Amino acid sequence: MLNALKQQPEDKILALMGQFRADPRDTKIDLGVGVYKDANGNTPIMDAVKQAEKQLWNDEKTKSYTGLAGDAGFHHAMKDLVLGDAVETERLSFIATPGGTGAIRQVIELVKMSGGSPTVWLSDPTWGNHPSILNHMGMKHTTYAYFDPETRAVKFDAMMDSLQAVKAGDMVLLHGCCHNPTGANLNQEQWHLVADLLLEKGAIPFIDIAYQGFGDGLEEDAYGTRHLASKFPEMLIAASCSKNFGIYRERAGLVIAISKDAATATITQSNLNYLNRQNYSFPPDHGTRLVTMVLTDPKLRANWEAELEMVRTGMLKQRQALADALRAGCGSDRFGFIAEHRGMFSRIGATPEQVAKLRDDHAIYMVGDSRINIAGLTDATIPVLAKAILDVGI
Ligand code: LMR
Repeated sequence: MLNALKQQPEDKILALMGQFRADPRDTKIDLGVGVYKDANGNTPIMDAVKQAEKQLWNDEKTKSYTGLAGDAGFHHAMKDLVLGDAVETERLSFIATPGGTGAIRQVIELVKMSGGSPTVWLSDPTWGNHPSILNHMGMKHTTYAYFDPETRAVKFDAMMDSLQAVKAGDMVLLHGCCHNPTGANLNQEQWHLVADLLLEKGAIPFIDIAYQGFGDGLEEDAYGTRHLASKFPEMLIAASCSKNFGIYRERAGLVIAISKDAATATITQSNLNYLNRQNYSFPPDHGTRLVTMVLTDPKLRANWEAELEMVRTGMLKQRQALADALRAGCGSDRFGFIAEHRGMFSRIGATPEQVAKLRDDHAIYMVGDSRINIAGLTDATIPVLAKAILDVGI
């Protein structure tokens, strides 16, 4: 049986991690995988998370199973963080999942269980694992226009034009904030226009929110998600705690399903519980418990918010410094978009050949579509990157 299997292509982002590790040059710069790094190139454990871990070590009395949906305290703390009071709690159903990817997978499983076969609309471009999961699960998908390679901003008119073709019951996947891989995001007015159009079309929004707090702030980054949640009878949300709590390997994520009424939400909940049971029984608990403690203990929360704010403003400074260094190098504002983008990533608009040259000649690693991880930069490497970008002719 096993000899009938075919070799699978490596995930591009994860393959890059391996190539970087294998590169012996000590000048190498990693702008690949979306992991936060501090000024010394480390991915620290956030102080509030470490404190919660110590407390948990002292206080936790059992490692017995939780509920199939995970811990209710986690659901409610995350509901407040992501949705505020945008929607009545009785219309919500939740499951904890192994990370944001687990949440995306469970949302698609739920769609399949509903018996429908909607087309899933993805932004062009989107995180590579979105189409990959949809392909694996045999879901129809297509793209809507999103990123303008010339201006490196959202091409909003083209986006609205392509969404005109959405059919009732189709799902439209939107990045809640900090678009991955481009860094280009909708403004509040654009969220309103997208919401109005999708409502008119009878579409179901599917929000992937993995970087809340990395863009314009915790509340600001939830604006679009909350606006849509307040308008739509049905909506699905996959939320990740990997980045904003820095607990990548703990695998803490959440599905929030919004149903049209409380009775439907009860049935949705039973389906979500069932899906957890079929796929892995109980979801991982450790990371979600830390998140709950941090969000609900006022001291830990203040500590976490302050550290997250430092991370966010630090990335903004790095964006500005890179844009400034490029302006000084090329004498024009054509890289100003780097300071306008938000979140961990910017797509800088290099060709695959230029990306390869940056890797081979300058030991600078970025994803093949020229996505850079801003948090991978330091004061010392910003001028190196700026010079290399201009050297390879971007
Ligand atoms: C990324 O886009 O780099 C992250 O979301 C990590 C991943 O799993 O791809």
